[in-house]
Amino acid sequence: METTTERDSLRYTKIPLTNGSGVMPALGFGTLIPDLIDTKNATRLALEAGFRQLDSSERYRNEKEVGEAMQEVFKKGKIKRGDVFIATKLWNNNHRPERVKPAFEASLKRLQLDYVDLYLIHTPFAFQPGDEQDPRDENGKVIYDAGVTLLDTWGALENLVDAGRCKAIGLSDVDVEKTKAIFESARIKPAVVHVESHPYLPEWELLEFCNQNGIVLQAFAALGHSSEPKLLDDPVITSIAKRVHKTPGQVLLAWAVQRGTALLTTSKTPSRIQENFDISTLPEDAMKEISEGIKTRQRFNAVVETGVPGFIPRGK
Ligand SMILES: NC(=O)c1ccc[n+]([C@@H]2O[C@H](COP(=O)([O-])OP(=O)(O)OC[C@H]3O[C@@H](n4cnc5c(N)ncnc54)[C@H](OP(=O)(O)O)[C@@H]3O)[C@@H](O)[C@H]2O)c1
Repeated sequence: METTTERDSLRYTKIPLTNGSGVMPALGFGTLIPDLIDTKNATRLALEAGFRQLDSSERYRNEKEVGEAMQEVFKKGKIKRGDVFIATKLWNNNHRPERVKPAFEASLKRLQLDYVDLYLIHTPFAFQPGDEQDPRDENGKVIYDAGVTLLDTWGALENLVDAGRCKAIGLSDVDVEKTKAIFESARIKPAVVHVESHPYLPEWELLEFCNQNGIVLQAFAALGHSSEPKLLDDPVITSIAKRVHKTPGQVLLAWAVQRGTALLTTSKTPSRIQENFDISTLPEDAMKEISEGIKTRQRFNAVVETGVPGFIPRGK
């Protein structure tokens, strides 16, 4: 029977950033939680459970609560600011270079931080510049901004690195082509590419490009976001979970870390937050079974198509 080492070090895996400074803990906690009280509680519990990598975004409209939770934890003294790798993201209405620094400063203020470890461009789609995060015309169509390129925005992020306000910069919701285009032209190369990825959307080609170029692939929706078809109920995952005496969630998170990605998972449920940190190394045959035996392919989040955020509702 396959076994896992009960208390191995997989959960503490750290990935040094090649194209940036700092070291990124692989196991990360995302704060895309609709309720603000839940956000604050979950962020605090995640840090207390052991998570040392946090993801946020101006678009989530909860950086203030994430910041309050972090401050509460830091004040207790056991966990320091420097122990935690903190990321946030620039939203689509702020792609014009002159809007980047003010948006970044506003995020830092809400998060109560004087630097972030990682600043990402949330999507490659520029929306009409202004304070409206979801600008629409009279027909309800998104108003895009053709007056700025992703490279223009990237240049403004490079300036933030120069000023010492963020240790690394990266892209989100991009494909291999967009990643290559920025990689080739950038003065400061992307340290991280943040995309949906799990066994139903393994993104092997992007992962290979990232590995070859010193970029960390950060996988969001690592558990499939509880969407249909349910990755957590996949028979390959549930049978491995039984064999190795772990939960399906722990199997999925271990797979993501062992194949060399950083990841993001989210829960507002205290027991699941603890469960998701308590991962252990999977045997090689289980890794192979997940990577090669699962044939289902499914993207759960449609943001990559239009820049409009949202998980795809059931039945679509
Ligand atoms: N860049 C982007 O466009 C983008 C898009 C989406 C997400 N993200 C980032 O990625 C993070 C993670 O994404 P995600 O929310 O899709 O993550 P996920 O971990 O795949 O899915 C979270 C869902 O799974 C449930 N869950 C968590 N742990 C579980 C467990 N052990 N067993 C069973 N169910 C479990 C949660 O329920 P409960 O909360 O009810 O426990 C929640 O409904 C976000 O918070 C955000 O930071 C980025």
